Amino acid sequence: MTAPKPPRKLYIKTYGCQMNVYDSGRIADLLAPHGYAASDTPDDADMVVLNTCHIREKAVEKVYSELGRLRPLQQDKAARGGRMMVAVAGCVAQAEGAELQRRAPMVDIVVGAQAYHRLPELIAKAAREGGHALDTEFPAIDKFDSLPATASAPGVSAFLTVQEGCDKFCTFCVVPYTRGAEYSRPVAKIADEARHLVSLGVREVTLLGQNVNAFHGEGPDGRPWGLGRLIRHLADIKDLARIRYTTSHPRDMDDDLIAAHADVPQLMPFLHLPVQSGSDAVLEAMNRQHTADDYRRIINKIRDARPDIVLSSDFIVGFPGETDRDFADTMGLVREIGFVQAYSFKYSPRPGTPAAAARKQVPEAVKAERLDELLALLRVQQEAFWRSCVGRTMDVLFERKGRYAGQLVGRSPFLQGVHADAPESLIGQIAPVRIEEARTNSLLGALVSPCHGEAA
Ligand code: 5AD
Ligand code: SF4
Repeated sequence: MTAPKPPRKLYIKTYGCQMNVYDSGRIADLLAPHGYAASDTPDDADMVVLNTCHIREKAVEKVYSELGRLRPLQQDKAARGGRMMVAVAGCVAQAEGAELQRRAPMVDIVVGAQAYHRLPELIAKAAREGGHALDTEFPAIDKFDSLPATASAPGVSAFLTVQEGCDKFCTFCVVPYTRGAEYSRPVAKIADEARHLVSLGVREVTLLGQNVNAFHGEGPDGRPWGLGRLIRHLADIKDLARIRYTTSHPRDMDDDLIAAHADVPQLMPFLHLPVQSGSDAVLEAMNRQHTADDYRRIINKIRDARPDIVLSSDFIVGFPGETDRDFADTMGLVREIGFVQAYSFKYSPRPGTPAAAARKQVPEAVKAERLDELLALLRVQQEAFWRSCVGRTMDVLFERKGRYAGQLVGRSPFLQGVHADAPESLIGQIAPVRIEEARTNSLLGALVSPCHGEAA
């Protein structure tokens, strides 16, 4: 009898968005049947995957410096007669293509975001030829079909990609170029994956897509279904307690999706709906295809449907041509809508996008000043909201053990981390918690009823 081969060591480093976190999980699932076991460090790894993001500044440089750090490890392994294969996956791979292997010959495999289901084949090819393999095509349609179902326990909350790519072409953004055209998965496939996740203990899914509410996947009736309809369908899955979705575009907030916020109790009252700017001139130059007033109208409708909704956004400051007045309009909109959460960025030119070629670039110092001002305002609003949670009782979905004995960590409906003393049996359950304290990044509370039923 031969002894079983020891597992090969796989190290995946993930950059960027939740879509990449999801993709990295799927890459690990994909390579597991080929004998690869995930590891937390690149030391002595047989396979290193850098799952890259290209959305903001310095993404490419970051990848090259990570490769620089990996080089001695790779040489070390070779000196001991082994081989550390290095793959660059995701959006930088897509954008740089063969240039990556020219600049860094240590890279064995370059695989675009739409082709990573072919990784086992590319690994075999690179191993056979002792050389390089490249696949940056866009065959999105078969990618999901070729991936195995998640085998590992994904925990209480899981991501589920329903849509990829984008046809919006905002003038600052690389996504339409790196992730390709908008593609929606069929409803039946998504529902199967959701049921499978629930069978593994998942109680909350976050539906993912670069432009998730542009979803128009084929329904069981052969017609395209919108995101609202998909959400209602998934809400029928027993034991799927919570549904979220991200990231959305204001143009695609249709009435059915807004109505789902009123009538699907599983759909959580937290919405990330990027507006980017409060100035119509900037929105126009960004090709966002909506005005500040359009955004206000959408928010009013959503608040009519779900009065307790909490809103989050992305902002870009210092977009080419942005004046003090334009920026003041953004600050005004932040106050008016009352965003309690946001990701804010200084504009950074992405090569190949229209805005990068604009003449009126904003000086770096002005961008930095505006970013500080915006972050300060958002912090004030976020803190005010978190303080307003103290004294309230909220349903918390417990996800895992906390740092201290007897403590669990879960999430409020508004995506806040909540710590409370609770028995381990409550992991995966929703229980009412009275919030007692607001810390910087989490809430502290106490279970209202220790026997996780209704509040006493
Ligand atoms: N510069 C700055 N921020 C950007 N984003 C996308 N492209 C750029 C860029 N060139 C931000 C947008 C988007 C988020 C995911 O990243 O705000 O919504
Ligand atoms: Fe990029 Fe989002 Fe605009 Fe699409 S909608 S181009 S992903 S910012």
